[in-house]
Amino acid sequence: MNILVKVLLFLYSFISCLGCGASQYTVSIMGTGYVGLTTGTCLADMHRNDTVRVYCLDIDSNKIENLKKGIVPIYEPGLSELVQKNIARKMLFFSDEIAEVVAQSDIIFIAVGTPTAPDGSVDTSYFYNALEQTIKAISRNPTTLVLKSTLPIGTGRKVVEYIKKHADPSITIHIISNPEFLREGTSIKDTLEADRIVIGSTSPQDLEHIQKLYQPLFQKNIPALYTDLTTAETIKYASNNFLALKLSYINEMANLCDKTGANVKDVAKGIGLDKRIGHSFLKPGPGFGGSCLIKDTLGLLAIAKQWGIFLNTVEAAVATNEYQKLMPYRKLKKCINSKELSGKIIAILGLSFKANTDDIRYSAAIPIIKKLQEKKAHIQVFDPKAMEHMKRIFPDITYCNTSYEAIKNADAVILLTEWREFKYLDFSKVKQFMRGAIIIDSRNILDPLKLSKLKFFYSGIGIS
Ligand code: UGA
Repeated sequence: MNILVKVLLFLYSFISCLGCGASQYTVSIMGTGYVGLTTGTCLADMHRNDTVRVYCLDIDSNKIENLKKGIVPIYEPGLSELVQKNIARKMLFFSDEIAEVVAQSDIIFIAVGTPTAPDGSVDTSYFYNALEQTIKAISRNPTTLVLKSTLPIGTGRKVVEYIKKHADPSITIHIISNPEFLREGTSIKDTLEADRIVIGSTSPQDLEHIQKLYQPLFQKNIPALYTDLTTAETIKYASNNFLALKLSYINEMANLCDKTGANVKDVAKGIGLDKRIGHSFLKPGPGFGGSCLIKDTLGLLAIAKQWGIFLNTVEAAVATNEYQKLMPYRKLKKCINSKELSGKIIAILGLSFKANTDDIRYSAAIPIIKKLQEKKAHIQVFDPKAMEHMKRIFPDITYCNTSYEAIKNADAVILLTEWREFKYLDFSKVKQFMRGAIIIDSRNILDPLKLSKLKFFYSGIGIS
């Protein structure tokens, strides 16, 4: 190899290697939920061998023991493989010895859950427990503390005050707010090919560690947005709430199309072609589910209320969403009236709140199954990944091994999740299996023309 190339390679590895003087940085992530686990795994994966050691930490020892063996507790496409790869590369580790690992860490992410409290506000108790534990254990000087959990606007400032009061004053702690924008089902791509990385801090001097850590993503031209702590926290809420507004808006347009006879798919295409609006998040459905959009709309309403602000648009989006959740059930009732539902066999295809996840939190399937149970319908369900979770809520409905088993003798089918396999069912076979001919397609993924040729009664959302 020519000497110049050797010098350049050495310089490149020196510059891209994390740490000034240190050959290896230790990063720890508190919380192995889908954000913590994906973030930790992707951080390990994006760096070259021996440049970082990423520790994912959790108080749940069972979970940690499984993760050490590469067993991932959630269904997230590609995550198990990436975890196993980075365990083998000796870049990714798991531990429940939180204080010991934090003490050796240069960068600590707090990525624990911030669920909705019974009054709709944000429950930050896990966060503050993790913060207290972290501050007691920190020993590297300097240490960077990254707030990854979605926290009420203003929490970063409180953390700064907390640290002034409780941390060892001889240690410099850089506080960073670095919200996540990962979707379940595509969380690896959303990390490694993120649209943006938002980094909030109180001073440019706090940025050294975090900039080095994200260097591999910056080299891919992923833009960074540097702000203060409060602005970064606000960007997270503003993003999820804007998505919620967009979804409730298109769902209302779909309901209007149902009345007027317009086709909402074409309406979405037509408005999406306007670059100011864009195509994404314009698919109508059974409302938005999952923990994040629901949690963050309610959370933002509660936060704004504390500041004396009423967010009309968000309030409306939440109300529309509540209404939309039962839209497939209302459509069913147009075909089979309430009294006749007793004893009818209703097949439900899809239980997770969206495709490519086993997460059923705030899935439309839950209120719809409840309604059908009230009416004493017999419910047969199938979902490729989410059935075990649903069994804990509804142990008494019939869980089937395939879609075809679920539709056997059904009077009606309600498709709730846009799993790919539902789109490609053999509908002539479906017709033979069913007792009735009603198909409610709450994701508009089926072909109405093909189904009407097969003599189904088809009802989509905004396309009937
Ligand atoms: C959401 C955000 O999209 C992420 O950017 C964010 O990081 C994440 O919350 C979070 O805060 O952790 P996620 O909850 O995984 O991600 O799911 P989305 O893909 O946003 O879907 C939310 C709901 O909207 C689902 O029920 C989905 O079926 C529905 N949806 C989505 C539609 O009905 N139509 C669409 O066009 C898109």
